Amino acid sequence: MCGIVGYVGDAKSIEVLMGGLRRLEYRGYDSAGVAVIDADGTLGTRKRAGKLQVLADDLEESPLPNGTTGIGHTRWATHGGPTDGNAHPHLGDDGKLALIHNGIIENFAELKAELLAEGAEFSSETDTEVAALLVGREYRATNDLTAAFRNVVKRLEGAFTLLAVHRDQPGVVVGARRNSPLVIGLGDGENFLGSDVAAFVEFTRRAMEIGQDQIVTIRPDSVDVTDFDGAAVETREFEVAWDASAAEKGGWSSFMAKEISEEPDAIANTLLGRVHDGTVSLSELDPLGADTLAGIERIIVIACGTAAYAGMLGAYAIEKWARVPVDVQLSHEFRYREPVIGDRTLVVSISQSGETMDTLMAVKYAREAGARTLSICNTQGATIPRESDAVLYTHAGPEVAVASTKAFVAQVTALYLLGLQLASIRGSLSPELIAEQVAELAAVPAKLSEVLQSGETISQLARWMADTRSVLFLGRHVGYPVALEGALKLKELAYIHAEGFAAGELKHGPIALIEPGQIVFVVVPSPRDPLSLHPKVVSNIQEIRARGARVIAIAEEGDAAVLPYADEVIRIPLAAPLFEPLLSVVPLHIFGMELAAAKGLDVDQPRNLAKSVTVE
Ligand code: F6R
Repeated sequence: MCGIVGYVGDAKSIEVLMGGLRRLEYRGYDSAGVAVIDADGTLGTRKRAGKLQVLADDLEESPLPNGTTGIGHTRWATHGGPTDGNAHPHLGDDGKLALIHNGIIENFAELKAELLAEGAEFSSETDTEVAALLVGREYRATNDLTAAFRNVVKRLEGAFTLLAVHRDQPGVVVGARRNSPLVIGLGDGENFLGSDVAAFVEFTRRAMEIGQDQIVTIRPDSVDVTDFDGAAVETREFEVAWDASAAEKGGWSSFMAKEISEEPDAIANTLLGRVHDGTVSLSELDPLGADTLAGIERIIVIACGTAAYAGMLGAYAIEKWARVPVDVQLSHEFRYREPVIGDRTLVVSISQSGETMDTLMAVKYAREAGARTLSICNTQGATIPRESDAVLYTHAGPEVAVASTKAFVAQVTALYLLGLQLASIRGSLSPELIAEQVAELAAVPAKLSEVLQSGETISQLARWMADTRSVLFLGRHVGYPVALEGALKLKELAYIHAEGFAAGELKHGPIALIEPGQIVFVVVPSPRDPLSLHPKVVSNIQEIRARGARVIAIAEEGDAAVLPYADEVIRIPLAAPLFEPLLSVVPLHIFGMELAAAKGLDVDQPRNLAKSVTVE
């Protein structure tokens, strides 16, 4: 939520900032702004409500003098609506200082009262302006932006990343973070700050992490990181694993279309180097220790939204293979239920961004309660992996579309690998059975490429349904999280009322929703499924068909039992039950995207959402 970029160097800062903001726009897109110090030491700012293009058009029509120092911001509104006035940057020190912010300053009312009592004037409804005025006030006292930050950040409560520039200190950008993301990009004679590496990967792939409660000062030739008291801290450099082209649309109609097409690669890359000759080897788990993993008594998976559905699939697999009880809990509910946690509890967090505040807080809670923590994450340098004992990265590549697709299948893959590794450590599955599952997993990318070939049929279906007002999704066992995921995609992308149900629950209430014409997607288990769920789900189809539902079945090739009852059948290749969701979910991703496109909606940036939810 909110994208932040900072730059000092010898290039034209407006171009660098706007390029960075373009790559960060998925983090928030209701207003944007920049501040630049030009060669004469003048501070110029421009900010506009609306998508980044509104700001870009404005700058084109009446350019700001360019400079070599600047900050830029793309906003997802929290305090104060998306107006020009509430857009960032906000000014302090009588307009000599510009500041941008991501997060929420929880004690802003109290700080505002203090400033008002001193005669300060506010021109926005934001919590950010409080920070701008406070840093401005402290700058007047110290004549140093870093010192001013030190005096202010300790007084702020909540979550924040702050960046500021001051007219009297050209060539300096200062940043600070607490529970909100910020990464440093290291260049040659230039340095960058960004909410994530996408902000600067076009210019450099050398990056550096910043820990919690730290302040960073960048100049063209130096980077200084300290804690909030000014003591130097150790930093860690890393190389960004992908280049700028990975975050480009590359000829696709949308980032989402591109990212769905990358789902087979997301799985293959997540497996790469981790499976050999029918075995799984996850050296990333070493910090947890094999003895600890062997002695784990309970696993709690915490995540939100799509990541939580991936967690539900992981739970079926881990429980079955490793014989450990696994609960999946929404991160934002987890710590309020006073969960039973001990040192034999492994808490596995799943987050594409690695920044979701609810999940971050849940991880911290779990650690403090004595659990061991493992993060499954898709973003290098993110906060949640830093706060965890170990991290298992998914290698889906940058996911730019706000709705998650390729990260989902990569998360499921990582969880399955974890399940197999635990099964091996704990001896709950024979090497032969592990090898069988590894082979199934390794075969998924090729099967998924086949599923993608039926994309046009699904698109056509979506176009026919552009006026649909409600869609239901049914699934059973591992088909249930797939149903939930299908419904979520339709809600967030096409703004259509959609619900996912466990098929067995149908007769306990939801069947009352069925009336003639109601569209119901049914994820049908394989007829070869040893759990014998297939006939039960086919009966469910008959029950809703009898009440007038239009049924779209997702069923494996050759399953003829669904044909008499389904209006449409989307076929997926044969796979063992636990691996079917990796195939059946993709038609639903395509369906959500195509239905949104058919309604003329922006599939990459749905209304009211942001990719990285960094506030609670
Ligand atoms: C839905 C979607 C969200 C995210 C959720 C968690 O398409 O993208 O539900 O899955 O906000 O985000 P991360 O994985 O970044 O923690």
